[in-house]
Amino acid sequence: MGNRLKVAMPKGRIYKQASKLFREAGISIPEDLDDSRKLIIPVPEIGMEFIMAKPVDVPTYVEYGVADIGVVGKDVLMEENRDVYELLDLGIARCRMSVIGMPNWKPVMHPRVATKYPNVASQYFREKGQQVEVIKLNGSIELAPLIGLADRIVDMVETGQTIRENGLEEMEEMFPITSRLIANRVSYRMNYTDIQALCDRLQDRIGGRQG
Ligand code: PRP
Repeated sequence: MGNRLKVAMPKGRIYKQASKLFREAGISIPEDLDDSRKLIIPVPEIGMEFIMAKPVDVPTYVEYGVADIGVVGKDVLMEENRDVYELLDLGIARCRMSVIGMPNWKPVMHPRVATKYPNVASQYFREKGQQVEVIKLNGSIELAPLIGLADRIVDMVETGQTIRENGLEEMEEMFPITSRLIANRVSYRMNYTDIQALCDRLQDRIGGRQG
């Protein structure tokens, strides 16, 4: 094997499921990486180096080629719109992006929509021919309609617990979301054999899980 493959892994929520899938596919990510604060973890035995990234930054590392491949949610991929190859639907971290609001919400002319995904939300409402004002927030999006900042929000729903506990209602499902394996365009050509071998192993495992 040539150079080590640099893999950008998202810290947090997705990491647990991604590392489990990799391990099931025979890619032995050391267990002690799970609680580590180290940001660069070389695993020479498998010819890889893991870069522990903030999820939203994974496509940036991959586009610029400092990571050859990466694991990222489709939500981030849509929002960031980076020039990368999307190689594989990993079928993990399954959830959906939805429009959410107060149950008694009355339509207004130019509703305000709070979200972590301003690009996705703007495009979605534009395509529906609805004029909205998009307000970017960075977390706890469900607060916005509760405290009168926005009429609606665009956010992720996984179990539905957050919207239930805050008395909100899912008004429209926009997109199903899962995590994806992405690659830098040049790295993909240069490391085709290694990257394709990894894809095949993951694909076999994903097929086995779904079948
Ligand atoms: C995400 C998302 C929702 C919640 C959905 O937030 O933005 O708030 O999880 O999950 P549920 O349907 O299972 O309740 P996250 O916990 O990542 O934190 P954030 O509020 O800082 O975005």
